[in-house]
Amino acid sequence: MLTIPKTLFKGEKKKGDQIKRIAVLTSGGDAPGMNAAIRAVVRMTIAQGCESMGVQRGYAGLLDGMIHPMSASSVANIIQRGGTILKTSRCEEFMHKAGRKKAYEALRIQSVDALVVIGGDGSFRGARALYEEHGVPVIGVPGTIDRDIAGTDATIGFDTAVNTGVELIDKIRDTASSHDRTFLVEVMGRHSGMIALHTGVCGGAESIVVPEIKTTVKAICEGIDRGVRRGKTSSIIVVAEGCQFGGAAALEKELKKAGYAAKMVILGHTQRGGTPTASDRFLASTLGAVAVEALLSGVREGMIGVKGSEVNLTSFKKLNGKPVGIPPELMSIAKKLAV
Ligand code: F6P
Repeated sequence: MLTIPKTLFKGEKKKGDQIKRIAVLTSGGDAPGMNAAIRAVVRMTIAQGCESMGVQRGYAGLLDGMIHPMSASSVANIIQRGGTILKTSRCEEFMHKAGRKKAYEALRIQSVDALVVIGGDGSFRGARALYEEHGVPVIGVPGTIDRDIAGTDATIGFDTAVNTGVELIDKIRDTASSHDRTFLVEVMGRHSGMIALHTGVCGGAESIVVPEIKTTVKAICEGIDRGVRRGKTSSIIVVAEGCQFGGAAALEKELKKAGYAAKMVILGHTQRGGTPTASDRFLASTLGAVAVEALLSGVREGMIGVKGSEVNLTSFKKLNGKPVGIPPELMSIAKKLAV
């Protein structure tokens, strides 16, 4: 259950009435639920008597002035759709001062007073710079399947990505047990093992290999042998793409050298697409709406996220890009359950 503390924007100077026109963009890798967040931003903006604008193709589109009006009906029938109707990009030019100046000019030309950025850590670094260099009020909404942003326990898209991973592991498990095979299933997550941990636990994986906790090929092989001694004829090893071995392909070679045959499946971008779960839709709807409320309450920068079950606000300054980390106690539970 998500709650919004009454004190969330207490203490903010009420400068919100200067904001009349709010633009929204999606940035970085797409994540299921981004459309629900866009819908929430647009509809809350209009509900508060302001004008809503949409920026196409993230920061890249912003630099090119691809900003257009959004109406309540322009976001109809998208809450259930994966991807992002605004499209997204990773923009090198925006990482430089000159690029951000261009973006600022584009916002000024369209009389945009404030921006909501739906994206990940990298996108928020750009958002912070835009605020600090040009005074543009910017609120971030965490949208990434990786769940790797400090300051929030939840990111839009993570739940869907995990559910997709689990569904696919269930299918792979059928073949693994029918053929007595070991499968290496590589999941996304960049430098984070969050997707791997959750997918592995929920898919009943025999081993989970994450970047945050080092292991050895020997330990992985011992895990397979332990299963065999217990009567298992198949194993599923979930491998985070950012792990020490550099993904499932490299680990497969290592296992082969050690005399263990394994099939490999890379889930890759299948985890980024598809219909968002109810949980992601709810999260996106709440955070998108609160982002607009934050701007209108006088907040000028920061990310709207979740800590525990409460919606929270974290200044961009506190998002240091450091890995969020995997709770070791959860990894230890995962190991014990996978005997
Ligand atoms: O950040 C989301 C993510 O899907 C990561 O898990 C992955 O490493 C990366 O993006 C892939 O990015 P791209 O689709 O641009 O190759």
